[in-house]
Amino acid sequence: STTAHKDDAGVLTVGGVPLTELVAEHGSPAYVLDEDDFRTRARAFRDAFAAYDVYYAGKAFLSVAVARWIAEEGLSLDVCSGGELTVAERAGFPMDRVEFHGNNKSEGELRRAVRNGVGRVVVDSFTEIERLARIAAEEGARVPVMVRVTAGVEAHTHEYIATAHEDQKFGFSITAGHGLEAVRRVAAAEALELRGLHSHIGSQIFDSSGFEVAARRVLALHARVSEELGVEMPEMDLGGGFGIAYTTQDDPADPAQLATEMTKIVEHECRALGIAQPALSIEPGRAIVGPSMCTVYEVGTVKDVSLDGGASRTYVSVDGGMSDNIRTALYDADYSCTLASRRSDAEPVLGRVVGKHCEAGDIVVKDEFVPGDLAPGDLVAVPGTGAYCRSMASNYNHLLRPPVIAVRDGASRVLVRRETEDDLLATDVGDL
Ligand code: LLP
Repeated sequence: STTAHKDDAGVLTVGGVPLTELVAEHGSPAYVLDEDDFRTRARAFRDAFAAYDVYYAGKAFLSVAVARWIAEEGLSLDVCSGGELTVAERAGFPMDRVEFHGNNKSEGELRRAVRNGVGRVVVDSFTEIERLARIAAEEGARVPVMVRVTAGVEAHTHEYIATAHEDQKFGFSITAGHGLEAVRRVAAAEALELRGLHSHIGSQIFDSSGFEVAARRVLALHARVSEELGVEMPEMDLGGGFGIAYTTQDDPADPAQLATEMTKIVEHECRALGIAQPALSIEPGRAIVGPSMCTVYEVGTVKDVSLDGGASRTYVSVDGGMSDNIRTALYDADYSCTLASRRSDAEPVLGRVVGKHCEAGDIVVKDEFVPGDLAPGDLVAVPGTGAYCRSMASNYNHLLRPPVIAVRDGASRVLVRRETEDDLLATDVGDL
């Protein structure tokens, strides 16, 4: 994060808090959330996309405090489960600024969303349109609806591939005509208020051309709806997916640049189609919270393993692993790490940071040069773990999920406390 720096003794300080002190107080491993950095990023999206509604994608990371920060910074919130909705409620998040996503929202989840008056529900199947229309009617409500469509653009880590994205579970296919049919059905349902089309092309995207192709296809459908159904839709959502730098090799666009490019594309397309421009919205998650957090671990063991050709690799085992960051194992994601508790002038060696799980794939950082004198008790920090790490954390091997500690102006506070063994056993009812 932007406030992270190392002092003369080599101690990594985030938000004015030396990580050595943070670990002494809160233990390790811990997720460290730089509040100023988070708020600055949220505001940067808010400002760059001032003409848009910016929905923070809570799936990347959500807690009661973070939901409040999001509200305070003027963003809206995207939730995709009853659990995320509960966090929003607990935070007192304005429900009319909440959007509800998901391809299989339950009857109960939809009813709650309707009763609570969420700002809009993104529908994802004909089954759901019918279900939501019935629930809305039963509740005597008129529910604002976005129709999620498949733009036929696949975004894949660092690139987008404009091919067979049809074969996945989300959205209504535009090419198969399902998108148009979904709009027709929503428009025909009295208890549903058609707001617009929604498209999300993927995650960790660096190139705005994926958004361009998607925007063009979705706008074409938007125009067709007006022409063939005589229905005007006031909104359009272009989803999230803005990439961040996980290692120094990544080079993401900044929000202002993205905003300019996306706005230009939409303006141009609307002019070409001769249609009024819908009010746009986006849903960034990773790009806001990803860089704002790091994970700090304590080194437990260090082991050299010989590689073919005579080289060796130093395996650095830390006190967490795939239960607090599944992304390396699941997506072959790249992370980096740094010694956070002291200075070292030792020669760097090829290292790999691994966790403490009973699984060989339990890797946090695949390849990184680490100081040759790394030793038990050292603290290692892995930056960029704000998105999809705590939110995808598990209790594999009955590990306790780490806390999320916010740091700001030299002070730290617990946002999500460390789990205890009592937490683990709370759901195990035994053999009674
Ligand atoms: N909107 C929709 C409809 C989404 O499905 C997602 C993410 C977002 C917005 C936010 O995307 P973001 O701006 O954070 O890229 N677990 C994976 C990422 C899964 C993304 C799921 N949908 C990972 O760790 O890379």
